[in-house]
Amino acid sequence: MTYAAFPALRLRRIRKAAWSRALVAETLLTPADLIWPLFVTEGQGIEEPVATLPGVSRWSVDLVVERAREAKALGIPCLALFPNTPRNLRTDDGREALNPDNLMCRAIRAIKDAVPDIGILTDVALDPYTSHGHDGIVDERGYVINDVTSELLVRQAIVQAEAGSDIVAPSDMMDGRVGAIRTALEAGGHLNVQIMAYAAKYASAYYGPFRDAVGSRGLLKGDKRSYQMDPANAEEALREVALDLAEGADSVMVKPGLPYLDIVWRVKDRFEVPVFAYQVSGEYALIEAGVAAGAGERDALVLETLLAFKRAGCSGVLTYHAAYAARLMGA
Ligand code: PBG
Repeated sequence: MTYAAFPALRLRRIRKAAWSRALVAETLLTPADLIWPLFVTEGQGIEEPVATLPGVSRWSVDLVVERAREAKALGIPCLALFPNTPRNLRTDDGREALNPDNLMCRAIRAIKDAVPDIGILTDVALDPYTSHGHDGIVDERGYVINDVTSELLVRQAIVQAEAGSDIVAPSDMMDGRVGAIRTALEAGGHLNVQIMAYAAKYASAYYGPFRDAVGSRGLLKGDKRSYQMDPANAEEALREVALDLAEGADSVMVKPGLPYLDIVWRVKDRFEVPVFAYQVSGEYALIEAGVAAGAGERDALVLETLLAFKRAGCSGVLTYHAAYAARLMGA
């Protein structure tokens, strides 16, 4: 394709008026592109602000239900739930994850009762339930044991599906767990429960505030680099995605988000599947800190950032700004 040259071609012509810019916009951001991560805590009528995530709180189940109603009214199609498990229920083996009456399952049921047609995505990983803060079972040297962990994740996913989760999202990065979960979902009659694989999840410095929110920061021993990916790698992300799709994932996620848009784009370009990105806690906190420091204007930063995810190829974005952004979009 050869284009006309200046002055026959003036690209600014098409940019001059707002109506024209609207007409040629290649990417559209709507509230339907957003998944809202919510932290759940024990009690009744409780809102606990998360210090390192200004504007984000943990909610007791009754108030998480209110957030679900709010999301529905704003046109946000899906919530992602994370439990702040009480300390006394955290064990080496994270067994509270398998309790059908745990905080997560009670939140799922309460939301489904009140707002039946909102999607619920649940994280499959043991870290909010373990006393050491790792996503699985650790051996005496602190190594997370793959296959033993995978068996527990399968049971955790089934418990969540039975409580009413629509999308189980393994965020643990064990090998083979997507296939094992898919087999168990089929065997258990949960034919329409989706798996969104945290396929390319990096061992990132951007998760700090999340670990505060679920109460695992002080607990975590060591780091997660023996299971989460090295930020240096992109080809390996494509292999992770290929494997998770072959094992039965319905959609895949890249995480963190903005620093990894190249990965989003490569995955979208290579595989014809829905791709999601998680704009993680540290990314959110950096925007809020930047705004507080006068580095930019919140509304514009939030919308531009979310639009960038869409432009890079995302079907949707998990973002703590979901409700805020949906309001900006005039929902
Ligand atoms: C747990 C999990 C983490 C996040 C989502 N699921 C933290 C981690 O892997 O340590 C991070 C999300 C965020 O930072 O917002 N497996």
